[in-house]
Amino acid sequence: MRELVYYVAVSLDGRIASPSHGFESFLAEGDHAAALTPEWGDTIPEPIHQALGLDVRRGALSTVLMGWNTYAVGLPDMPSPYSHLEQIVFSRTRTAPVGAEGVRITDDDPWEVVTALKRQSGGDIWLCGGGVLAAQLVDLIDRLVLKVNPFVFGDGIPLFAGQYVPTRFALERSRPFETGVVVNEYRRR
Ligand SMILES: NC(=O)c1ccc[n+]([C@@H]2O[C@H](COP(=O)([O-])OP(=O)(O)OC[C@H]3O[C@@H](n4cnc5c(N)ncnc54)[C@H](OP(=O)(O)O)[C@@H]3O)[C@@H](O)[C@H]2O)c1
Repeated sequence: MRELVYYVAVSLDGRIASPSHGFESFLAEGDHAAALTPEWGDTIPEPIHQALGLDVRRGALSTVLMGWNTYAVGLPDMPSPYSHLEQIVFSRTRTAPVGAEGVRITDDDPWEVVTALKRQSGGDIWLCGGGVLAAQLVDLIDRLVLKVNPFVFGDGIPLFAGQYVPTRFALERSRPFETGVVVNEYRRR
């Protein structure tokens, strides 16, 4: 069955963005990036993939889920950032911006959307973020892949924001890199 994978960069204090919603502090270069880019090629926005002419593995993922705030980070320059994937953006207030052809903007219940996706065939489902959306999907997450960066924000957007069900994950793999980033891969117990 297709799995729901939350693959995300996080600070030591569990934040996926700074108080100003910035994520430029997350380390984008170095040995961790060299290892992860080929493995997680589906998570590279298509315009960047094309501009850099990257030779990376694609096809493990076939759907990406974003809350509106996460999707909006790429606007107006990237209205369809992951055009190689089925793109689903959750919002109760927004409509598709110009250039967002192929992006499904929906106010359907995320839990029901993911449950239906899991019944379909295809590659895995990437939960891109953010924290508000992730909190609603905790009990459907099969794998949690955290790129733990070596700093604290002090405040900002939590990995899971809002109320959510306590859930235990088992650590399957942990890789420390010279950059100080540690990639921890967990699976639902
Ligand atoms: N570090 C990383 O790897 C990473 C990855 C992804 C995101 N981020 C960061 O995370 C931040 C955004 O996270 P966030 O927690 O603030 O927000 P978010 O989860 O991305 O988006 C929240 C918005 O999504 C919509 N939404 C959420 N649940 C919904 C539902 N059940 N039905 C319909 N719409 C729903 C609502 O939009 P409306 O108000 O329009 O209804 C809500 O305001 C950004 O700063 C981004 O940079 C970081």
